[in-house]
Amino acid sequence: MTRIVCLASGKGGVGKTTSTINLGSALLGFNQKVIIIDGNITTPNLSIHLGIPQNRPTLQDVLEEKSSIENAIYVHPTGLKIVPSGISLENMKRRFTKFISESIVDLVGKYDWILIDTPAGLGKEARIAMEAANEVIIVTNPELPAVVDALKAKNMAQALGTTPLGVIINKVIGDDTEMKLDNISNFLDLPILASIPFSKDIKKSIKEREPLVFDSPRSAATIQYKKVAAALLGSEYKFIEKPSVIQRIKKILGVI
Ligand SMILES: Nc1ncnc2c1ncn2[C@@H]1O[C@H](COP(=O)(O)OP(=O)(O)OP(=O)(O)O)[C@@H](O)[C@H]1O
Ligand SMILES: [Mg+2]
Repeated sequence: MTRIVCLASGKGGVGKTTSTINLGSALLGFNQKVIIIDGNITTPNLSIHLGIPQNRPTLQDVLEEKSSIENAIYVHPTGLKIVPSGISLENMKRRFTKFISESIVDLVGKYDWILIDTPAGLGKEARIAMEAANEVIIVTNPELPAVVDALKAKNMAQALGTTPLGVIINKVIGDDTEMKLDNISNFLDLPILASIPFSKDIKKSIKEREPLVFDSPRSAATIQYKKVAAALLGSEYKFIEKPSVIQRIKKILGVI
């Protein structure tokens, strides 16, 4: 069965695109068939995060019935499959004849997971992305303005018949200026799927156009994304630190 999940927030810049890419990568690492779709039709995100070439079919071509969705799939060097939106400003003027929900029909049954990166705000573009999904993961930061918008996004998704699975709290520093995780969970009435630390590894992965999960496999943020993926698959992920070659030699020699 294909699960169609969108990642939404209300507030911009909280980490939806980062979370979509890395949750998708973590699921791929667990041998799932995954495709991620850039629901940011007017302000594309995935192409920029992952350095996807522009001279190729995009989601806009699919929505305009100029390309099949299969032709618009880009395979990143890591193996992650993406339907990107085009970054050209011309895209803003295009008239679309299809919705994302209709366009992804051909992918249903072929993938285990379709993840949709949802635009910020609660406008038409966000609604179109939420409507295409059956389930939603809310992404927020641990501060009141983001959490209030997260509640609006959750309510909007539910009104559209999309089931909330839980919340990813991103850019967590852990100081006393932040809302406590339990308070966020109570406020949103959602389980916490992950608490992702504010991490330089994420900045580095975006600079390198590579999902964090592949770029920094031992990063604390990677471990959190793998935990979310495992939880979605109904299991638990435990990170086992492999000893380095030097540690292994020392162990053989009885030094440690
Ligand atoms: N855990 C993190 N630690 C540090 N920086 C982060 C983290 N998550 C995201 N960022 C940074 O925050 C910025 C916004 O992240 P991202 O693009 O994923 O957010 P978004 O919710 O998709 O934004 P938009 O609403 O504009 O689509 C990125 O440029 C990234 O560098
Ligand atoms: Mg984004």
